[in-house]
Amino acid sequence: MKKICIVGASGKLGLYMVRHALARGYEVVGVCRANSVGKLDEFKGRITIIPGATNDREVIRRAVAGCDGVMVVLVPFGVHQLSTGTAQAVLDFAAPGARLVFSCGWHITRDGKDVYPGSMKVLLALFGPIARLFRFADVDDQVEACRRVFESTTRWTVVRGSDLEEGESQGLPLWSRHVGDAVLESNLTRRIDFALFMVEALQNDALVHEAPAIVGCKTPSALAHAAGAAA
Ligand SMILES: NC(=O)c1ccc[n+]([C@@H]2O[C@H](COP(=O)([O-])OP(=O)(O)OC[C@H]3O[C@@H](n4cnc5c(N)ncnc54)[C@H](OP(=O)(O)O)[C@@H]3O)[C@@H](O)[C@H]2O)c1
Repeated sequence: MKKICIVGASGKLGLYMVRHALARGYEVVGVCRANSVGKLDEFKGRITIIPGATNDREVIRRAVAGCDGVMVVLVPFGVHQLSTGTAQAVLDFAAPGARLVFSCGWHITRDGKDVYPGSMKVLLALFGPIARLFRFADVDDQVEACRRVFESTTRWTVVRGSDLEEGESQGLPLWSRHVGDAVLESNLTRRIDFALFMVEALQNDALVHEAPAIVGCKTPSALAHAAGAAA
């Protein structure tokens, strides 16, 4: 793995991913909205920036050219299928065999076997319609984007983030296939470690065609799981 692309590089998760990627010696191409280029100033001269909408197919075609890996921040903002357009462009234009790693939240389910906490069901039931009403976000867009990824024959991984917090790295998050599995109960991950998981996934073939739901490795449920495994 030499050259990678980060789609959504200027966001909170994206900035962490750029730092982890540079620390691994990757050549980095970042895509972000034109008015967000300044958020990447700390990397001036060390990364190539392609400004533009992440669902602009021409922008993505140029950005992923020659990349062995692409990390994509999928966000449901707006009501113009931003996530779906972004995911589709990456699926269409990434080099054959490239590792593709997409981010989303626990609410995305691959096989319908996730068991969600009641509080999360209520939040989604309320947030979805209100966000769409005010044209702020469309959760179904992220669902459709991930559906297309799941159906694709590319070498994808969809990383499903728990609730997030800021703070120093605690290490690589643990993961499980289904929300509801005991290890995930704490439902909290540091954003820096979400980014670490995304970057590590580029080189982890065991995660190809997986949709890991992640949790911080120092959370109570993760520690209890690790203690159980060691006993
Ligand atoms: N936040 C959470 O609690 C949470 C929980 C679980 C999973 N996740 C997942 O984690 C990933 C990153 O989430 P995050 O909360 O940390 O966000 P983030 O990294 O700050 O990313 C937000 C991204 O959305 C872009 N964006 C913001 N407003 C936009 C708009 N109106 N139109 C187009 N693009 C817009 C930002 O671009 P600019 O830099 O140009 O503004 C940035 O690239 C997402 O895949 C999310 O589903 C988040």
